[in-house]
Amino acid sequence: MHTVPLGKSDLQVPRLGVGVMTWGDPTGWARWNPAQLAYGGAHGIEEERRALEASIAAGVTLFDTAPMYSNGASERRLGELAQGRDILIATKFPPNPFSRTGAMPRALEASLTRLGRTSVDLYQHHFPSNQVSIPDLMNLMADAVEAGKVKAVGVSNYSAQQMRVAHAALAQRGIPLASNQVEYSLLHRQPETNGVLDTCYELGVTLIAYQPLASGALTGKYTAGARPTGLRRWMPYFRGKGLEAAAPVVALLREIGARYAKTPAQVALRWLIENESVLPIPGAKNGKQAADNAGTLSFGLTPDEVEALDQATRAWRA
Ligand SMILES: NC(=O)c1ccc[n+]([C@@H]2O[C@H](COP(=O)([O-])OP(=O)(O)OC[C@H]3O[C@@H](n4cnc5c(N)ncnc54)[C@H](OP(=O)(O)O)[C@@H]3O)[C@@H](O)[C@H]2O)c1
Repeated sequence: MHTVPLGKSDLQVPRLGVGVMTWGDPTGWARWNPAQLAYGGAHGIEEERRALEASIAAGVTLFDTAPMYSNGASERRLGELAQGRDILIATKFPPNPFSRTGAMPRALEASLTRLGRTSVDLYQHHFPSNQVSIPDLMNLMADAVEAGKVKAVGVSNYSAQQMRVAHAALAQRGIPLASNQVEYSLLHRQPETNGVLDTCYELGVTLIAYQPLASGALTGKYTAGARPTGLRRWMPYFRGKGLEAAAPVVALLREIGARYAKTPAQVALRWLIENESVLPIPGAKNGKQAADNAGTLSFGLTPDEVEALDQATRAWRA
């Protein structure tokens, strides 16, 4: 399997990962957000095991989780399923309003315990907040790297300016900022206009694209007459005229996919991967979805097809 360095770090990663936000006990979400249940309620451990196996079989060995996903159940489930397996795990320093800078070492230990590991491959600051000083946090991240508990350091939901601060603080310790995980898909192209993608190019940072299928809107299975239930009802992709607006994009994904016997999801992911600075982490709830998503690695789009998708989704750059 083809691997590449994550940013300028020593961590070698595949061009695609798997987001496991919906894995674990879905009632974990329900405790504080019942509407979320429907996002992850329709599958269990055996489907997740098959998703993990199908991904590994296709060389997709990077799995992204976080303590806030199902109150730690996603990390616990990933740790359980990954036992004895050679995979890369990315997790995050929690974003809650009480997470102060100095809480990081304890939060990391708690994640390691839930994952059943002595180190994580990528540790990311989940969201910037006023409670957390970026330079001080990056110093703690650097300590964790030196202690062998973290292999590479990333951030998430950081602006271009915040990336620069993190990058500079880590550079003082001789450590690269490996990645910034932000929302990026054909239906969410703001990283191209808010400076984040350009800053990734400039600093040599990988952009990890979350919600790369626009939470399922780009798979083609949701329409104005068949909307998802639960949390996703409130997302712009599925609310109001969101799905109608996306219909021509899905039609184009189908048309291009038909040339290669690929699904709309595979073409949508491929559009991201054609940019070598971008690494998508689609969520997968079962083996079929995981295998489908991994199938994006076995074909390529022509420059004209990339351009056609670019033109068809210009409105989503705003
Ligand atoms: N850093 C952050 O702040 C942040 C925020 C959000 C997410 N994330 C990360 O990004 C990952 C992915 O985000 P996401 O799961 O919200 O959105 P996504 O990857 O855009 O969409 C995933 C959903 O689409 C459906 N799906 C996936 N593959 C499919 C396929 N091949 N065919 C048909 N349907 C398919 C599944 O839901 P259904 O089958 O129910 O439709 C799946 O849960 C998360 O797991 C998490 O790791 C990070």
